[in-house]
Amino acid sequence: MKKLEGKVSIITGAARGIGRATALLFAMEGSNVVIADILEKEGKETEDEINRKFEGVKALFIKTDVSKEDDVKNMIERTVKEFGGIDVLVNNAGILPLGTIEETSVETWDRVIDVNLKSMFLCCKYVVPYMIKRGKGAIINVSSINGLMGGRRMVAYATAKAGVIGLTKSLALDLAPYNIRVNAVAPRTIETAMYRAYRKPEQIKERIKTIPLGRLGKPEEVASVILFLASDDASYVIGDVIVIGGYY
Ligand SMILES: NC(=O)c1ccc[n+]([C@@H]2O[C@H](COP(=O)([O-])OP(=O)(O)OC[C@H]3O[C@@H](n4cnc5c(N)ncnc54)[C@H](O)[C@@H]3O)[C@@H](O)[C@H]2O)c1
Repeated sequence: MKKLEGKVSIITGAARGIGRATALLFAMEGSNVVIADILEKEGKETEDEINRKFEGVKALFIKTDVSKEDDVKNMIERTVKEFGGIDVLVNNAGILPLGTIEETSVETWDRVIDVNLKSMFLCCKYVVPYMIKRGKGAIINVSSINGLMGGRRMVAYATAKAGVIGLTKSLALDLAPYNIRVNAVAPRTIETAMYRAYRKPEQIKERIKTIPLGRLGKPEEVASVILFLASDDASYVIGDVIVIGGYY
């Protein structure tokens, strides 16, 4: 029996990286998937790959800027029209502009909070009524180790990711009576375009020396934890934050 047989899952930021790996794994486990992302070319490639590889499930790319309320509402309405409901929401889309307080403009601050935090509020706000109708649901929010520990030159990013944890824990309490489980993951150093964009190859080599497992994580190693939280294997897990890569 597949772990998400017949489910409908929305995964934001699934055009590439951790979101893409999650969409592929969910489809392999029997879920229809909606890929909500701003990147049209990569989003459609993920959609095509899933539709080619996996029988009995459908992938649908919906161009969505998750920081915009109208885009989010439209994406969720289209999902319900296409698939009849929503079982799983993975709030994964995010951006990482580095900066100290002096380097971070008010515009950058607003953008990071909008894309990394407000987006999750919006997606939850408009998905939850459909999960209540279904009588169950699972929401997984992608935070970061920096949401727990802060980070150098991560003033806006770490603040948004800490906010994601507050949102997760509060929603978990409010939504438990509806049988909707809300949890978060907090990955550490995962090899994606986001990670590589802000670090030179020499810096990555130095960083690897400090990692207990001696290597960067793979997007698939985050996807498998998200799958656990989305599936009935985690039927009694709520309001948790699973650190991926070690708390050190
Ligand atoms: N890579 C890491 O080391 C790491 C560590 C901790 C947390 N994370 C978190 O994991 C998540 C995924 O990151 P990733 O490493 O796969 O990065 P990535 O840059 O490869 O993927 C992020 C995706 O989000 C999409 N996105 C960005 N802004 C968007 C918007 N406004 N609307 C819709 N989609 C948007 C991008 O187009 C992209 O497809 C992010 O929330 C990130 O903060 C990553």
